[in-house]
Amino acid sequence: MKEQLERIYTNAVADIEKVDSISLLEDVKGKYLSRKGEFNEIKKNLKNLSDEDKRIVGSLANDITSKLEKLVQEKYDSLYKTELNKKLQKERIDVTLPGKFVPKGKVHPLTSTTHEIVSILQGLGFSVVESKDSPEVETEYFNFDMLNIPKDHPARDVQDTFFTTLAPNVVLRSQTSGAQIHVMENKKPPIRVISPGRVYRNENINARKYNFFHQIEGLYVDKNITFGDLKGVLNEFIRIYFGASRPTRFRSSFFPFTEPSAEVDVQCIMCGGKGCRTCSGTGWLEILGAGMVDPNVLRGVGIDPEIYSGFAFGMGVERLAMLKYAIDDIRLFFNDDVRFLNQF
Ligand code: PHE
Repeated sequence: MKEQLERIYTNAVADIEKVDSISLLEDVKGKYLSRKGEFNEIKKNLKNLSDEDKRIVGSLANDITSKLEKLVQEKYDSLYKTELNKKLQKERIDVTLPGKFVPKGKVHPLTSTTHEIVSILQGLGFSVVESKDSPEVETEYFNFDMLNIPKDHPARDVQDTFFTTLAPNVVLRSQTSGAQIHVMENKKPPIRVISPGRVYRNENINARKYNFFHQIEGLYVDKNITFGDLKGVLNEFIRIYFGASRPTRFRSSFFPFTEPSAEVDVQCIMCGGKGCRTCSGTGWLEILGAGMVDPNVLRGVGIDPEIYSGFAFGMGVERLAMLKYAIDDIRLFFNDDVRFLNQF
């Protein structure tokens, strides 16, 4: 039995020496030192020996076991060190390498233009409506009916409305003017609000027109509001936004919800008024529609047109940006081309 023990010991020492990883060392440890290991098998047989032999062999077995345990521990420590070093070497970080470049985002020119327009109009006393009064998915009631546009009126076709399949009469709004109705149904005059947002029209796309674009609606209702007030606000807006020297013109126009109505054109910056692709050869680009709120509209929302009057306007954000930054094609706003966006 003594020889048996010594043979196992020699083998174990050799095995421990050979292993070159912690997981192999665990295997070796199991083979010799676990409860099912070779030493325990021998210890089980001790009971068959004489008391004298039991003591000798027993203490030898214990000696050998603790020697092996020590060897395993030492081996473990050294393997652990090597493996750790290898890992550290592999995962070493070179702090002198240059960092990764993270490109910086930019504010989209339509966003910054909207902010600029809104802040000018705020300076003229207007405040922005809550978003619940300005939904993009709208009913015909707000987009047309209450704006004095009857069912069979050609204006419904003029704006090439997108109808939805959500429910009959649910449309993608073709104009922000529906916000006027939302506001006036909820609040009595004095009202002086603006409402920026996206509108949708089934247009043939070209340099000036897109399937959707952005408007800023304005509404001022109070006692004694006149067309002079309308002109005053719009002229002041244009002066601040474009500067005093930009040629502009006021034209009479027609909208079912305003009477009288007007449109404002700004001279095309691309051709200096000579006529080009962007302005379709006219030398001018329309930036807004406006007018005195039609008495029918006021009556519809329960405001007495004998007591109150008001004006409204709707500006095109893309047009205003194009005319300020000489952007000759509306499609550039929506291409997500960083070469374009980086210029702002
Ligand atoms: N909603 C009109 C349009 O989209 C513009 C407008 C707004 C005209 C308010 C008059 C008053 O063309």
